[in-house]
Amino acid sequence: MKILQQEQMREASDDVIQSVELSVQGLSLALSGKPILKAISCQLFHTGITSLIGPSGAGKSSLLRCLNMLYDDWQGEITIAGKSIRAWQGGVDALRQHVGLIAQKPAVFPVSIYENVIFGMPKKVRKQNQDAWVAQCLKQAALWDEVKARLDEPASALSIGQQQRLCLARALALKPKILLLDEPTASLDPRSKQLIEASLHQLSASITVLCVTHDLEQAQRLQGQVIFMCDGKVIESGDADAFFQHPERVETREFLRWSVCDCD
Ligand SMILES: Nc1ncnc2c1ncn2[C@@H]1O[C@H](COP(=O)(O)OP(=O)(O)O)[C@@H](O)[C@H]1O
Ligand SMILES: [Mg+2]
Repeated sequence: MKILQQEQMREASDDVIQSVELSVQGLSLALSGKPILKAISCQLFHTGITSLIGPSGAGKSSLLRCLNMLYDDWQGEITIAGKSIRAWQGGVDALRQHVGLIAQKPAVFPVSIYENVIFGMPKKVRKQNQDAWVAQCLKQAALWDEVKARLDEPASALSIGQQQRLCLARALALKPKILLLDEPTASLDPRSKQLIEASLHQLSASITVLCVTHDLEQAQRLQGQVIFMCDGKVIESGDADAFFQHPERVETREFLRWSVCDCD
C-alpha cells in the first residue's frame, strides 16, 4: 500500500513537471522576405530547463524574439498557459514582464548596481521592502556576495560575468514566469558560467527556463529538455538524457558529433 502511494505521488509529481507552460504551433517567420522559421512546433514545460541548440543561423534567436513579441510579424500560434500571446492582458509590456529575455552580451544601464536591479520595475511591483527585494534578486542571480558592499557603485565597474548576472537579477526583479536566455554564458569566465548555471537550476524549480546554448556540455549539465533546431525547423527534441544518449535523427547524430548540420 505504501509503495503504491509512493508510486502515485511520484506520478503526480511527474505530471507537475511535465505540464506545458508555453506552446508553439506552426510558427513561421520571414525577415526581409526570407523564410527564417518554418512552421515550428515545440513546447516548454512549467518547470525545468529547456536547452535550445543548433548551428549558427538556425533561427534560435529569432524564435526567442517571437516568444516575447520583439518580432510580431509571424504566423502560427504561441500560447502561454493556454492563452495566446497576441491577446495578452496588459499588452506587450505586460507580456515582456511575464517573459524575461536575457541577451548574450550583458547590457547594463549607466546607473548604479542597485538602480539596475530596480530599473523598469513598475511602481505597483515595487515592494515597500525594496531593499530586501533587490537583495533577493541579487542572491537568486548568484551576485549578492560580490556586490552587497558596493550597491551604489556604477554597474559598468563590474566584470562582464558579473554584469551578466546583474542582467539576470534585473530580469528576476520583474518576477517573470518564463525566462529566455540567448547564449547567456557564451563569453563569460568559467566561474560566472558555473554560477549562472547553478542559478538557472534553482530558478527552474519554480519558473520556465529556455536557454539557447552552443555549448553541448552545458546543455547536458542543464538536463531537462533539449530542442535541436536547424534551418528554421525543429529537427528533434526530447528529454536531455535520451537526446544525448540515443538521438533518433541522423542530423542530430551528426550535429552532436561535429557541431555541423546539413539538413536541407
Ligand atoms: N533582420 C534580418 N533580415 C534578414 N535575415 C535575418 C535578419 N536577422 C536574422 N536573419 C537571418 O535569420 C537567420 C536566423 O538567424 P538567428 O535567429 O540569429 O539564428 P541563430 O540565433 O540560430 O544563430 C540567419 O540566416 C540570419 O542571417
Ligand atoms: Mg543567435
